[in-house]
Amino acid sequence: MAKSRVVYYCQNCGAQASKWIGKCPSCGEWNTYVEEIIRKEHPSEHRQILAGRQSVPIKISDITSDPESRIKTADEELNRVLGGGVVPGSLVLIGGEPGIGKSTLMLQIALSFKKTNVLYVTGEESQQQIKMRAERIGLNNQNCYILPETNTQNIFKHISELNPEILILDSVQTLYTDTIESSAGSISQIRECASEFQKFAKQTDIPVFLIGHITKDGLLAGPKVLEHMVDTVLQFEGERNYGYRIVRSIKNRFGSTSELGIYEMKNSGLQEVPNPSEILLSHRDENFSGIAIASMVEGIRPMLIETQALVSSSAYGTPQRSTTGFDIKRLNMLLAVLEKKSGFRIGAKDVFLNITGGLKVYDPAIDLAVVAAIMSSNKDIPVDQNICFAGEVGLSGEIRSVNRIEQRISEADKLGFDQIIVSKYNLKNIEKSKYHIEVIPIGKITDLFKRLF
Ligand code: TYD
Ligand code: MG
Repeated sequence: MAKSRVVYYCQNCGAQASKWIGKCPSCGEWNTYVEEIIRKEHPSEHRQILAGRQSVPIKISDITSDPESRIKTADEELNRVLGGGVVPGSLVLIGGEPGIGKSTLMLQIALSFKKTNVLYVTGEESQQQIKMRAERIGLNNQNCYILPETNTQNIFKHISELNPEILILDSVQTLYTDTIESSAGSISQIRECASEFQKFAKQTDIPVFLIGHITKDGLLAGPKVLEHMVDTVLQFEGERNYGYRIVRSIKNRFGSTSELGIYEMKNSGLQEVPNPSEILLSHRDENFSGIAIASMVEGIRPMLIETQALVSSSAYGTPQRSTTGFDIKRLNMLLAVLEKKSGFRIGAKDVFLNITGGLKVYDPAIDLAVVAAIMSSNKDIPVDQNICFAGEVGLSGEIRSVNRIEQRISEADKLGFDQIIVSKYNLKNIEKSKYHIEVIPIGKITDLFKRLF
């Protein structure tokens, strides 16, 4: 007989309790506990298959690791984000808001393997819908199978018949397993289904891609529980109204995090953007005030990006500060430094800051460009279009050194900028004569004024 018990889960953080509580002691959210009934069944068929395989201890020196064993997809951006290709037996979670392009990306990947059997399991769309999307993307593949199914036991049955070499599950929130009674999309279902596929991936060496939705707050729904379990978490970002999409690796057991893939959503699917700088910079004929260009690095890739600021007199008593793509706390800090160290009277003004292209930037090296854009807008004097910036601003107004400075300089050089302003502490081992671009070192924020205005 199947035994069942009732458990309460926080839908925000996945914490578990034996009775209902109003406020989650783990994440502090209110009203997030939901009752779920868990029924323990006899091990089902596939579980017996999985349980039947036993592993034995072997010496670490006897274990072979083969870097060539990574499976390269046709998508260079994805390969890079994954750390050089898909690792066999890895479980990769791809999160993102609805409509951002997760299914499109994974279908493109599935269709691009010409010699490998791929199984694309969909719980959200019908086979016809997937076919229509494939036609839109303009790819076809004899080895790509589409399975509309949400029950994991059935999926495993089809897997053993088809023997796919790559498995894609769209999405984890629609999957359910018979061993648990609660409805699909609940925390316990998500956890149990993901753990079944994790075991499957590890034992068969077949890589599994899980697509997951993101809640309004930007968390993966069914959140932390999944992040522990998977090897790699990729996050799909981008403003829906902009064409650019960014795939960011936020956890990767087999490569660097903070790696980035950039795509553009076109009419025929997602297109890789190998040279982001050329697209992210708007090529202007005229000089406008409030624009400065930063040489930033995401992961290991340098790119140039425009920061735009608008400083205007506040219409109401409390000045407004608002940002797109940049941390608002960091903006407030930079404004405080500007006010204190350079005597700018900005405290009573509205400040708006925008990173172009819908990108979110976490690299501290864009501080200098942000400050330059703010000063330029405040004085209404444009910054020369041929200057770019790379430096972090410290609390006492000093310009701090940043990592990968040589790459930043080379990228600016390559794109034909005349000058790059950097921290003077960054220039120890730099051979300036290597570059055409003039490298200008500065030490304090006040030096920046003198240089620019
Ligand atoms: P989709 O992959 O369905 O998003 P998700 O799986 O993350 O929910 O993306 C759908 C969006 O992408 C939809 O708004 C239409 C757009 N799109 C294009 O612009 N071009 C295309 O070629 C395709 C397939 C979709
Ligand atoms: Mg989808």
